Amino acid sequence: MLENVPEHIAIIMDGNGRWAKRRGLPRMAGHHSGMKTVKRITMAANAIGVKYLTLYAFSTENWKRPKEEVDYLMKLPELFLEIELDELIQNNVQVRMMGDRSLLPPHTLKAVEEAVSKTVHNTGLVLNFALNYGSRSEMLLAVKAIAREVQEGRKRIDEIDESLMDHHLLTGDMPDPDLLIRTSGELRLSNFMLWQLAYSELWFTDVYWPAFTEEHFHEAVQEYQRRIRRYGGI
Ligand code: FPP
Repeated sequence: MLENVPEHIAIIMDGNGRWAKRRGLPRMAGHHSGMKTVKRITMAANAIGVKYLTLYAFSTENWKRPKEEVDYLMKLPELFLEIELDELIQNNVQVRMMGDRSLLPPHTLKAVEEAVSKTVHNTGLVLNFALNYGSRSEMLLAVKAIAREVQEGRKRIDEIDESLMDHHLLTGDMPDPDLLIRTSGELRLSNFMLWQLAYSELWFTDVYWPAFTEEHFHEAVQEYQRRIRRYGGI
């Protein structure tokens, strides 16, 4: 288990709403329970030596949900950090966020930025929240920034390569995910890390995110460890 541990795991945490509905609970109860899963899986990832854990917490498309639900989803990061930040710090976890900060409510942004700055020197697991994140808009911003560099004569067209693109994405210095997990039975990428997932191993489960346990997480990692990654070679 502790050999060939994925360095970077990305997760599309899906199924909070359906989990709640099955129990006759409001959707918010599903999101609240999903927040507890975030804690469990963060600790499980840290325990086996994962270096980066990227969690899709809110997509640029999620604004289309009813206001009450959006408001609640925007409260969850601060609620989570209020409860867990001390323990994350004790465990040497570094909190990061990727996404368009400009549309986040000030209370959400403040809580996240406080956690980011308090943990910036931690050297353990990097817990990277994708918050108001969309992969196509991330790539468009990168392309525009590169075009500007060319226009201003700071780069030549033949200097545009994959590493320049990597550098302009929100993942910056992070390696690409080795493993992508998506819960709840949906088999889609939903505009998540489209560039970075080019060679990732994909693992899907029918389990809803609030019901996702350390055991499911270990199952995914063990399946990853059995796979042989060829990167297009033979
Ligand atoms: C998808 O389930 C989940 C989300 C859109 C939100 C994910 C957020 C969390 C798991 C909690 C975040 C916690 C922190 C700490 C930021 P869904 O609502 O689409 O479920 P459904 O497809 O069953 O309706």
